[in-house]
Amino acid sequence: MNVHVLVPAAGSGSRIGGDIRKQYLELGDQPVLVQTLSRLAALPQITAIHLIVPEEDVAFCRAELVDRYRLEKIGGVIVGGAERQDSVRKGLEACGAASQDVILVHDAVRPFFPKDQIGPLLQLAAVEGAALLAIPAQDTIKEVFDGLVRSTLDRRLLWQVQTPQAFRCERIREAHRRAYASGYVGTDDASLIEWCGWPVAVLAGHPHNLKITTPADLALARALLAAGEVSLT
Ligand code: CTP
Ligand code: MG
Repeated sequence: MNVHVLVPAAGSGSRIGGDIRKQYLELGDQPVLVQTLSRLAALPQITAIHLIVPEEDVAFCRAELVDRYRLEKIGGVIVGGAERQDSVRKGLEACGAASQDVILVHDAVRPFFPKDQIGPLLQLAAVEGAALLAIPAQDTIKEVFDGLVRSTLDRRLLWQVQTPQAFRCERIREAHRRAYASGYVGTDDASLIEWCGWPVAVLAGHPHNLKITTPADLALARALLAAGEVSLT
């Protein structure tokens, strides 16, 4: 079984602001994206990594990231799309994976994903068709409309979903194809599988597997690193 990783890194980082896209910001002396790609490449289960970036950044990523840092297992640098879902769909089309392969989708901006969970995640995806990492919700979560609370959701049923998410290739390709044809947009890849009526298995993620979304997240990532709470290798 070959495992192809798709790393969507084609976002503009509007919530973090600034002039440099967040995937290129420094974290522990190297760009966040380089940290994520190196961590993925070191996993023995991974066959190839496909990096998905904005069209105008393809040459920069090849020269200044892939070549400069001698990144391993890079299968290609692919042009992304307007939404994350478009970027992943383009990656699926271009990566050359076979239908019996497993696809791992992982956000460029989650450099601290739990390495020990990747083997079990891939196994689970091969059996169930789809699997993701998640942690139980810590806060009480309410549904709010027009400034008023509508309801309080049952926290015991709520999980915060992370990446990596893993899929049998034929499932995720078909889910993206159907979603594109119908104009359905989900907020992660697993939601397209759910929309098709197929199962998605859940495995324990880790609270340190944060997504760098805001300046506070970047500060937290740097603080976790400085405190020795996480390592980048
Ligand atoms: N992403 C992508 N293509 C897009 C949008 C997002 O490949 N059109 C990627 C981002 O680069 C990131 C991941 O999807 O690695 C998660 O998205 P998010 O954290 O939302 O990043 P951005 O979309 O860049 O940030 P924002 O939503 O604040 O603009
Ligand atoms: Mg976004």
